[in-house]
Amino acid sequence: MLAGRRILLIIGGGIAAFKALELIRAIRAEGGAVTPVLTKGGAQFVTPLSVAALAESPVHMELFDLTAEAEMGHIRLSRSADLVLLCPATADLMARMAAGIADDLATTLLLATDTPVMAAPAMNVRMWAHAATRANVETLRARGVTVLEPDVGAMACGEHGPGRLPDVPRIMDAVRAHFGDGPLKGRHVLVTAGPTHEPIDPVRYIANRSSGRQGFAIAGALAALGARVTLVAGPVTLPTPPGVSRVDVETAREMRDAALAALPADAAVMVAAVADWRVEASGLKIKKGPDGPPPLSLTENPDILAEISRSPQRPKLVVGFAAETHDVLANAEAKLKRKGCDLIVANDVSGDVMGGARNLVHLVWPDGMETLPEAPKEEVAEALARKIAEMLHD
Ligand code: C5P
Repeated sequence: MLAGRRILLIIGGGIAAFKALELIRAIRAEGGAVTPVLTKGGAQFVTPLSVAALAESPVHMELFDLTAEAEMGHIRLSRSADLVLLCPATADLMARMAAGIADDLATTLLLATDTPVMAAPAMNVRMWAHAATRANVETLRARGVTVLEPDVGAMACGEHGPGRLPDVPRIMDAVRAHFGDGPLKGRHVLVTAGPTHEPIDPVRYIANRSSGRQGFAIAGALAALGARVTLVAGPVTLPTPPGVSRVDVETAREMRDAALAALPADAAVMVAAVADWRVEASGLKIKKGPDGPPPLSLTENPDILAEISRSPQRPKLVVGFAAETHDVLANAEAKLKRKGCDLIVANDVSGDVMGGARNLVHLVWPDGMETLPEAPKEEVAEALARKIAEMLHD
């Protein structure tokens, strides 16, 4: 699916550099061409010979290489690709990129290029979480660099958490999506995510513990398969996944309006933990007084999932979520009927799922069910996105 695509692959200096070899194979297996650039650090982990042999291309390593300068020049090299891909993108490489440093071939190419850049980060969990790296990633994203989220898991250094290089199939999904390819190419998918906030008065509100992580991961995974994704997000502090258009809302009613406005869509995946009730909000701050606490009168919120399922513009595939603390499967089956959707993704939220990093979900259809293995929310999202792609193709 990458026939004719030219990828300039910059291999940074990290233990994950060996996976760049697998990436070269994967790109070439789909017809793409790889021009490799190996940093000094990268060359500590993989040899120029293995890189050149797999890429069937010379490896560029030196900024001041007279032959290369005479034949091509580093400026031309930086512009002769359709995509510049950094794998692994180390904390150091991204910091130098963010600062605009150009003191070796890789950073000079990155500063000189007018080609889209994608970075697949890999580093220790604390390095990824460090405020400096966070700021650098934010700067790069604001400049249009696609920085993939790292995988979560055990690391070479023995620690555990986000920082592992995204696995090669995920990088390939992102590369294909960049070129507008992938099984969801040409499809529009609506995703709702996060909680809603229902105001009580100008300073107080009713909320729930949803972090939005699962919904954001699903939006990102769908985009990575080539879908055009509209993400209607309640109040959360998460970065927008690459390639996703985001509409921020606060209340259930705003979420409903934004979701209906996003139609038509081929699929709708309603992950948001929408507040079931709202309060008749006071325009002024409610004061404490001698009469004791004020009564809160609750009104039912619109059921966005049920409305979308019954809308004249109903997407071909409507997916709902069921967060339950007990009788998970029985409740999911009942919800499937009540809400008129095609698939319910049911999870048990009696543990720390809401706001946590992992999830175990059951997929419940009218005629069967399947349990996905317990995994980080990003992996659950990828598995679900692939299922959605299959269901839309049937
Ligand atoms: O009704 P309940 O909250 O159990 O159903 C959960 C599913 O319904 C989720 O997919 C959620 O996004 C959706 N929902 C909705 N609008 C509501 C309540 C839930 O879209 N008001």
